[in-house]
Amino acid sequence: MTEKKRALITGITGQDGSYLSEFLLDKDYEVHGIIRRSSSFNTNRIDHIYQDPHNPHVSLFLHYGDLTDGTTIRRILEEVRPVEIYNLGAQSHVRVSFDSPEYTVDTVAMGALRLLEAIRDYQYRTGIEVRFYQAGSSEMFGKVQEVPQKETTPFYPRSPYSCAKVYAHWQTLNYRESYNLFACNGILFNHESPRRGETFVTRKITRAVARIVAGKQKKLYLGNLDSKRDWGYAKDYVRAMWMMLQQEQPDDYVIATNETHSIKEFLEIAFTHVNLNWQDYVEFDPRYLRPAEVDLLIGDCTKAKEKLGWQPSVTFTELVHLMVDSDIKALEKSNMVGSGFD
Ligand code: NAP
Ligand code: GDD
Repeated sequence: MTEKKRALITGITGQDGSYLSEFLLDKDYEVHGIIRRSSSFNTNRIDHIYQDPHNPHVSLFLHYGDLTDGTTIRRILEEVRPVEIYNLGAQSHVRVSFDSPEYTVDTVAMGALRLLEAIRDYQYRTGIEVRFYQAGSSEMFGKVQEVPQKETTPFYPRSPYSCAKVYAHWQTLNYRESYNLFACNGILFNHESPRRGETFVTRKITRAVARIVAGKQKKLYLGNLDSKRDWGYAKDYVRAMWMMLQQEQPDDYVIATNETHSIKEFLEIAFTHVNLNWQDYVEFDPRYLRPAEVDLLIGDCTKAKEKLGWQPSVTFTELVHLMVDSDIKALEKSNMVGSGFD
């Protein structure tokens, strides 16, 4: 029997980590994920694929660790001996990165460096060729220099989060060139799903729509409604991550839909889907403004289409509808079991 391919994922409990795990398990990988110790459960996105470690045929394993803790990362690498590593762990909220810049940079920038250093030593000592994926972001383009944005567009980061992502991007490229590491940067534009964190604008809106319909919420407080984003579906985007690591040569790729929409357009589609008018519910709250905003993101994913054969499968309207429908269903289900959270 041939051995399963082993993948290690940082950020496995996040939106992308959960979809990527499902994707890799379907491809018969042995999947290892790093989770943070938390005083309450933080594995709800992967509970449905959790496997009892006492089962001899288990193929999903979880390890306690943190990107701020280099010693543990090294120990996990030695234990797991992965051939593919996906670095998805991050303090990924742009607004929060202005409140906690040091922690954000430690996790996002230094975390990537700690991982790269550990991989460099591990690969040198064992001779195992590791393939590394770095979760880069369209936020790195920041202040608009060119539209649409592609791999060659200059970066102009506008937050502690995106400055840290730029650092991680260049270190990844630097390790590829200096140590011959098979390392790829994905420059992913916003991607959403029913598993999107509740404080990102899309999920905040679709959750509010569900709660307004159920009579549990009266108003939705938001910040800047004029910024524009290139929004895709997270399941499509994790497929691109894997595709990058299956190529003959490592490279960097923009992953996007080539469309841009404002927050107002998102609101319009989400509220109209349940026959409501968003203007009746949305109020402005300056707390949600950022010290510096990214006004317009729209990606050109021609390279990914041509070289990887990747393309998005869900349209903007389909994405908004599927998120609203999912939140309505989730709320109905929680009502049935009588969760005491509302
Ligand atoms: P997410 O839902 O916020 O998940 C982030 C993951 O990182 C969670 O598993 C979180 O653990 C973990 N994490 C946070 N701090 C950590 C630390 N110090 N050490 C180890 N793990 C830590 O993010 P996502 O949307 O899945 O995004 C995945 C990656 O892609 C992130 O790096 C993000 O910056 C990047 N990205 C996302 C998008 C997007 O639109 N979604 C676009 C471009 C790039 P807990 O569950 O315990 O909090
Ligand atoms: N979160 C949030 N909450 N954003 C709001 C709100 C609000 O109440 N009101 C308006 N916005 C605006 C923000 O100012 C921003 O212009 C836009 O909505 C999108 O904000 P987020 O959903 O928080 O996402 P983001 O674009 O800042 O960052 C996401 O995408 C990046 C890729 O471009 C995150 O997933 C990052 O981790 C990712 O790198």
